[in-house]
Amino acid sequence: MPFKYNPPTRTQCDVCEQLHRQDKADAIIDKHNGKASSANNFPFHNWYNFVLGYTPEFPDYLLEKEGISSSDVVLDPFMGSGTTLVSCKLKGISSQGIDANDFMVEAARTKLNWKIDLAELMKYRDIIFNQIENSYDSLNWSEENLLAARAGQLPFSNLISENKTSYISYVDERRPEMLVPKYISDRPLAKAYIIDEVIKEISPTQELKNIFDLALTSILVPISNVRYGPGFGVVKPRDDKDVIGIYFNKVDRMIKDLQSVNNEQRNTKSETVLGDSRELGNHFQSNSVSLMITSPPYPGDHEYTKHTRLELIFRGLANNIDEFRTIKKRMLRASTTNLYNNDNDREKILHLNSIKEATDLIQERLDHDGATSGFEKLYTKLIWEYFGGMHKTLEQCLKVLKPGGKIALLVSDSHAFKMVHIQSAKILKEIGELLGFVDAKIDLWQFKSTTSHKYDLRENILFLTKPNS
Ligand SMILES: C[S@@+](CC[C@H](N)C(=O)[O-])C[C@H]1O[C@@H](n2cnc3c(N)ncnc32)[C@H](O)[C@@H]1O
Repeated sequence: MPFKYNPPTRTQCDVCEQLHRQDKADAIIDKHNGKASSANNFPFHNWYNFVLGYTPEFPDYLLEKEGISSSDVVLDPFMGSGTTLVSCKLKGISSQGIDANDFMVEAARTKLNWKIDLAELMKYRDIIFNQIENSYDSLNWSEENLLAARAGQLPFSNLISENKTSYISYVDERRPEMLVPKYISDRPLAKAYIIDEVIKEISPTQELKNIFDLALTSILVPISNVRYGPGFGVVKPRDDKDVIGIYFNKVDRMIKDLQSVNNEQRNTKSETVLGDSRELGNHFQSNSVSLMITSPPYPGDHEYTKHTRLELIFRGLANNIDEFRTIKKRMLRASTTNLYNNDNDREKILHLNSIKEATDLIQERLDHDGATSGFEKLYTKLIWEYFGGMHKTLEQCLKVLKPGGKIALLVSDSHAFKMVHIQSAKILKEIGELLGFVDAKIDLWQFKSTTSHKYDLRENILFLTKPNS
């Protein structure tokens, strides 16, 4: 039988074999602090834990390594839910960030507003908690006749007992078309809407409302049937969850974090922008930033709205395919489901042999396997567009950095396309040098294990410095 590059688990990767032989360097995160920890274990960071976010240990490591102080400004051009900015604020360092995803920006903004009147927050917490319990009791949670009504054998009005509306009709009236029951079952969703409506009804000030809203949005995935990590998956439906208990705990944890803040931290500036980092210079001042810390999308075929799909729909930030597309178009091209006919970011890097070698090998393997699927045909275009988009972003970063300022990018190598090993940091280093960055250097942060093949992939830190003159 002719050899196939699919499934990749069985395919040997010569680059991985060679790298493992050549380079015995320890990964920083292993030397530095054992294993990378999830943001879940860190105050403020855990207000919303973005599955593709990095551990706060990454910005903490760099802030210390680069000797960043309160007189510096740090910027993250792919901010996500604000890990870099929260780490900076905890250390009294001003920071800025931009992200293309509306929900990420909303989450980051809330995580970074610590000028909160705590007495008011606690007053509203008590009112809201009390009202949630009342609203919960006002619905009929029994399953009786439910299936018959769903099957159309009984009018829904028959489900009203003791003058209580059935939770099922309550949720049917509210469930957005895109939030299908496969993603989140009726009972947990009904409870989430009760909480949502109480917050709106009680109507605290906007900044307090943001906290109550984020606490709710952040528990959506745990109460749903969706699992992110790193793909988008759906598990066996869970009929019920202690949504209200989980919510109360979350709000209380957030209040505890706010109680721990000191004046310096409270007054440290953090600025967040919704936008496209390929236009960074339109949003931030030239020559103003000492250090950029970031993890850009990498060529791993991740579609970056997928990992916040529930949140975007529930918050009403993306209600249909067109609204999702608007967000996706602001993003770097990193997935075959986010490529468009008139994309042309690749223009300035078409002469780079390192990318051509990778795309030629992908094409060779596609031809060898007789690949015909529409997605596979887009692989090579995607790689060119991705690196072209990164060229545009790095050009803008060069403008916004101070002379002598640095950018540290955390990027993973990739095997996502016909098992061709793409050394992302190495190619980005070449692009950075082409743009005029100096002192380029690659350090190994950690190895990332994956279930799709037998090799652990390198997650590297690429350092690029803006020349002093
Ligand atoms: C790997 S994640 C960064 C996660 C972040 N380090 C954290 O800890 O939350 C990459 C982010 O880049 C954003 N993104 C993708 N393309 C973008 C663009 N052109 N401009 C701004 N943000 C973009 C995505 O929305 C995503 O949040």
